[in-house]
Amino acid sequence: MAADSESFVCLEDFEKSARKHLLQSRVDYFTDGCNEQFTLKENIEAFKRYRLRPRLLRDVSKIDLSTTLLGQHIFWPVGVSPTAFHRIADYAEGEKATARATHSEGSVMILSCASTCTIEDVATASASGILWMQVMFFKRREITESLVKRAEAAGFKAIVVTIDQPVFGKKYSIDKNKTSVWFKLHAHERPVNLNLGIKDKGGEIAATLDRTATWEEIKWLKSITNLPLVLKGITTGDQARNAVEHGASGILVSNHGGRQLDYLPATIDVLPEVVAAVEGSGVEVYLDGGVRHGTDVFKALARGARAVFIGRPIIWGLTCKGYEGAKQVLSILREEVNTTMSLMGCTNVNEIAPSMVVHEDYFRKSKL
Ligand SMILES: Cc1cc2nc3c(=O)[nH]c(=O)nc-3n(C[C@H](O)[C@H](O)[C@H](O)COP(=O)(O)O)c2cc1C
Repeated sequence: MAADSESFVCLEDFEKSARKHLLQSRVDYFTDGCNEQFTLKENIEAFKRYRLRPRLLRDVSKIDLSTTLLGQHIFWPVGVSPTAFHRIADYAEGEKATARATHSEGSVMILSCASTCTIEDVATASASGILWMQVMFFKRREITESLVKRAEAAGFKAIVVTIDQPVFGKKYSIDKNKTSVWFKLHAHERPVNLNLGIKDKGGEIAATLDRTATWEEIKWLKSITNLPLVLKGITTGDQARNAVEHGASGILVSNHGGRQLDYLPATIDVLPEVVAAVEGSGVEVYLDGGVRHGTDVFKALARGARAVFIGRPIIWGLTCKGYEGAKQVLSILREEVNTTMSLMGCTNVNEIAPSMVVHEDYFRKSKL
């Protein structure tokens, strides 16, 4: 837990503080990207290469950030991406704290299948909040099916299937830490919704993933649920078209926070290609990866995302202050989005136009 004297004014403050409060092996697990960590850094750096072109002298006395995701009303276009093992960050409540914070901040939470709280407990904690369930294709397909059925019964509103993880990406620090605490999960830190038949080692989950999965499995998933399907991990137009053909309702443009395949491009860069590929299909496109500021959110919306999601910042918030920390991370970001909208001259998300965000090259090429 963070000291009362610490001040938290932006999302990076939570990261700095959290790094001091966790064992290094766990900081490595939460923070690191794969291999050279190129994509991890690129997610953040790419946002900085886009510039803003505001409209001025517009009445911005009232800003409405609300939108809908898959037909559900949310108060602002930012949600929480699925991240595993929240009780490593917040022993007391873990994902239950995240669900409460997300609901209280008027947003949507995607629960990781490697959650340390049960699906049912998270649903209860969230009260009437909007929850989506993230699943993967396990070798024992009944595990995937049981996650879907339990989420349906608990009132979740969508299934998010992660398709960029047939194997785990290679993280050098995790390999170096093989004898560390991270590989010896405490009882309360286990993925309680997964009956994987493994003991207590975080690293063993990799062996349970089904590498044989193809687009046929998306058809299977659709056949076992009436909930809308969101495909997470898409980074090209071709993949997006495939997702549409296979009945996706949403696409989460994601490179897994730079944790799977290094040298994937930054999500903010590939976003328009995906948006163009699904144009006219009615499929919603979201983005995650490197979103840390209100201006990042604005840039993603201008480049075609309907909403964006954040991963690590929630873990830092939980580590620093549990429920209060996760809530504060969201409220700081929401306030930043609000301010950005005012300064950009937009009173609601429909007024955000693609021309309001340009790549830095725009000015290099300009003859003015
Ligand atoms: C510690 C950690 C655990 C994650 N666990 C999952 C997971 O269980 N399922 C999944 O689909 N993505 C998982 N992700 C990826 C996130 O959903 C998301 O794509 C990524 O964190 C977004 O980037 P950001 O952290 O820069 O916001 C995880 C990411 C982190 C950092």
